[in-house]
Amino acid sequence: MMDWTDRHCRYFHRVLSRHTLLYTEMVTAPALVRGGALHLLDYSPEEHPVALQLGGSDPGELAEATRMAVDRGYDEVNLNVGCPSDRVQSGTFGAILMKSPDLVAACVEAMQSAAGDVPVTVKCRIGVDDQDPHVVLPDFIARLKAAGITRIQIHARKAWLQGLSPKENRDIPPLDYDLVHRMKAAHPDLHLSINGGIATLDAAMDHLKVMDGVMVGRAAYHQPYDILADADRRVYSVDNPVLTREDAVFAMEDYIGAHVAAGGKLAQVTRHMLGIFAGQPGARRWKRILSDGGHRDGASFDLLREALPPRAA
Ligand SMILES: Cc1cc2nc3c(=O)[nH]c(=O)nc-3n(C[C@H](O)[C@H](O)[C@H](O)COP(=O)(O)O)c2cc1C
Repeated sequence: MMDWTDRHCRYFHRVLSRHTLLYTEMVTAPALVRGGALHLLDYSPEEHPVALQLGGSDPGELAEATRMAVDRGYDEVNLNVGCPSDRVQSGTFGAILMKSPDLVAACVEAMQSAAGDVPVTVKCRIGVDDQDPHVVLPDFIARLKAAGITRIQIHARKAWLQGLSPKENRDIPPLDYDLVHRMKAAHPDLHLSINGGIATLDAAMDHLKVMDGVMVGRAAYHQPYDILADADRRVYSVDNPVLTREDAVFAMEDYIGAHVAAGGKLAQVTRHMLGIFAGQPGARRWKRILSDGGHRDGASFDLLREALPPRAA
């Protein structure tokens, strides 16, 4: 999620779950290919399995960016056809591409040629503006399938490109889970994931009775423990011991130590950990101490020890 997640967030989420697939925030192909912003591809090996999400609409540029991702060992390359922000519309990226399925097909064909064995996937909406999702989504999926795509993540609401802010576009257009479930029934051969408004692991499990996958955005960020800590056991039937919240904090000690020793700020990592005690005693104090102190020069893992709820310190 742009401006929210980064490699530090993914490392922390991986502490909580070994098997869930983690996605990068959208990285635009022009930033990589024309801007040379190669640092955007950096990640830690512990983050696997990790998918790079690309934004763009130029097949050649997306192919080049895909090659860079594959060279760096990403497990999947995903094309964003869901982001509604103005910035992104101006570059013809994201949700507006729902209106150009042939261009999307050309993009993913170019990406697949560059990706070799690494899967190329697409994240999309159910439609944009005045499109009828019941017409547009089936056609869009059929077009992707004809282009060789086998895995799609569907944000189960339209994006309204005029008049709504990106934030409003994540809440105001109504969710249509039923339509997405019907797409799965129509395409047993595709791996289809559902996204949007799924706020608990229980709700994710319900969708998994129908769908192949569930993508969780905001809830995973704000309540990472509640979404991720038991996901390996419940979703993947892997008997990983569930870490306590405190153990998850201490599992970050070496990573944080190395980050700070290399000149990084503590808060760059801990800002993603503020929600670990969400709903628990001491949650507010934890957040306050880390938010107040994490930016200070010299702040180290000791601040997390100080901030831990008392029974765990
Ligand atoms: C701050 C923020 C940034 C986002 N950035 C991206 C992004 O880079 N790529 C993407 O596919 N979706 C992005 N999204 C959308 C989420 O991935 C997700 O589709 C949306 O929030 C609905 O799912 P949720 O209710 O589980 O959060 C972003 C959402 C937020 C809140």
